[in-house]
Parts: sequence; C-alpha cells; structure tokens
Amino acid sequence: MNGRELMALAQEARKHSYAPYSGFRVGAALLTKSGKVYLGCNIENAAYSATVCAERTAFFKAVSEGECEFEAIAIVGGKEGETAEFCSPCGVCRQVMAEFCAPDFRVLLGNEEHFEAYTLDMVLPFSFTGKDL
Ligand code: THU
Repeated sequence: MNGRELMALAQEARKHSYAPYSGFRVGAALLTKSGKVYLGCNIENAAYSATVCAERTAFFKAVSEGECEFEAIAIVGGKEGETAEFCSPCGVCRQVMAEFCAPDFRVLLGNEEHFEAYTLDMVLPFSFTGKDL
C-alpha cells in the first residue's frame, strides 16, 4: 500500500462523513503494520462535544478489533464539495496517535493531487505519553 493509495482510501472514507453542523467533511485511512486498512470519517452531533474526528474513528475501530500496531494514516478534508489542500489533525487526534504509535508513524496530509508525509514526532513534538507516568 503506497501513500497515494492510502490517500485515495481516505477520500473514499470521507464520503461517509456526517457533518451537518460544520459542513466540513473529513476522511482518514489508517494502515496497520500487518497491512490492514481501517477507514474513518468525522461524525458530528447536535451536542457538539460528542463529535468524533475521522482520525479517531479509524483508530477506535482498529483498536476495538484488536489492532494496536500502526504504520501510517492518510487524512483528507475540506468543506462540502471541496477538498482542502491540507487538513491538519486536531490536537486530540494527535494525542490518540501518540498513545498507539511510534515517533516515526507517518501522517500523510494533502489531497488527491498532492500530499506530504510527516512523522508523528513532527506533528506532535514533546508528546506526553504513558512513559511519562
Ligand atoms: N475534524 C476531523 O474529523 N479531523 C480533523 O483533523 C480536523 C477536524 C472534524 C471535526 C468536525 O466534525 C469538523 O471537522 C470541523 O471541525
């Protein structure tokens, strides 16, 4: 599975986004070390704080099915009908990544035409993890 293919799967996942309040639709494709892919989309709620981001949907699907080793995540987002050039994961999702992923976990950000690969360490430096407790 290469980065472009993972980005395409994130775009597919985005089609299921439930975002009636923000109109901002996000999809994520999470690649496990064993080669499986878990898809996620953002799922909003009338009680706004109950909303879950696409990235966490993908992580929680995977972890709840026994997958805890991850290679990379691709994230695609934007307003309804558009794809942003870059959809950066929120701080809470970065923290969830830090719970399960090594510093070299890859975070692919962009769109169908162009994406960049970052590492978890780049997007969440000085992270607080279980090692600190
Ligand atoms: N959102 C995500 O799903 N992932 C991100 O990386 C950023 C934000 C969602 C949450 C909410 O449904 C909408 O985008 C606007 O914040």
